[in-house]
Amino acid sequence: MITVKDLTKTFTSAAEPVVAVDDVSFSIPDGTFASIIGRSGSGKSTLLALLGGLDQPTSGTITVGDHVISSESDRALIDYRRSTVGFVFQDFNLISNMSALENTMLPMEFAKVPKQQRLARATELLNQVGLEGEKQHRRPSKLSGGEQQRVAIARSLANQPKIILADEPTGNLDSKTGKVIIDLLKSLITDGTTVIVVTHDRSLADKTDIVFELEDGQLIA
Ligand SMILES: Nc1ncnc2c1ncn2[C@@H]1O[C@H](COP(=O)(O)OP(=O)(O)O)[C@@H](O)[C@H]1O
Ligand SMILES: [Mg+2]
Repeated sequence: MITVKDLTKTFTSAAEPVVAVDDVSFSIPDGTFASIIGRSGSGKSTLLALLGGLDQPTSGTITVGDHVISSESDRALIDYRRSTVGFVFQDFNLISNMSALENTMLPMEFAKVPKQQRLARATELLNQVGLEGEKQHRRPSKLSGGEQQRVAIARSLANQPKIILADEPTGNLDSKTGKVIIDLLKSLITDGTTVIVVTHDRSLADKTDIVFELEDGQLIA
């Protein structure tokens, strides 16, 4: 279960402080496919970054399982990001001089998984997301956008995370490929993984179990 209580994030860097996430509360049971929708600037990415332990809230709490991640040390957060969360981004964020396989193995290298195991698991994950055979040895520039996002999803799954956080994963894809990627993300929840996807496409959000709608940092639905 992910429980968010009275969560607020205020940025004070600009002349006027910006309340990017404004007193938001909700909970998401394990194995849920959830979406966060809202206009540009409504606080979606900030909320996702807080859930992923990439940023700290100004106030409020985030509890993931037994961990109150909003009050954990930097060191514990590094561990949380590495072992509990998988991230997927709009621009794929793959490493350009590494093959699909190498990109997928990288998080396992950080987690000190032995080489043979890394290779076997990366191959299996890429097969699972539908990137097979010779394509696994290609660099990102030799793959289509949809294929690159499949690699990013395989990579996000490398360390068997409990939560996948995807920020506009279909933003750079045509609508047909976007649907395929959303269906792929949906298929991941079968084993109890929670998937939270940010989108501003209502038709994609309608495919999820719960839709959270943000407006000016506030949860309106
Ligand atoms: N690092 C930052 N410093 C200052 N303001 C920020 C920062 N990140 C986001 N914001 C502001 O917070 C608000 C929400 O941004 P964001 O979470 O990126 O929205 P969304 O992902 O819904 O487009 C915006 O007004 C944005 O300008
Ligand atoms: Mg955003």
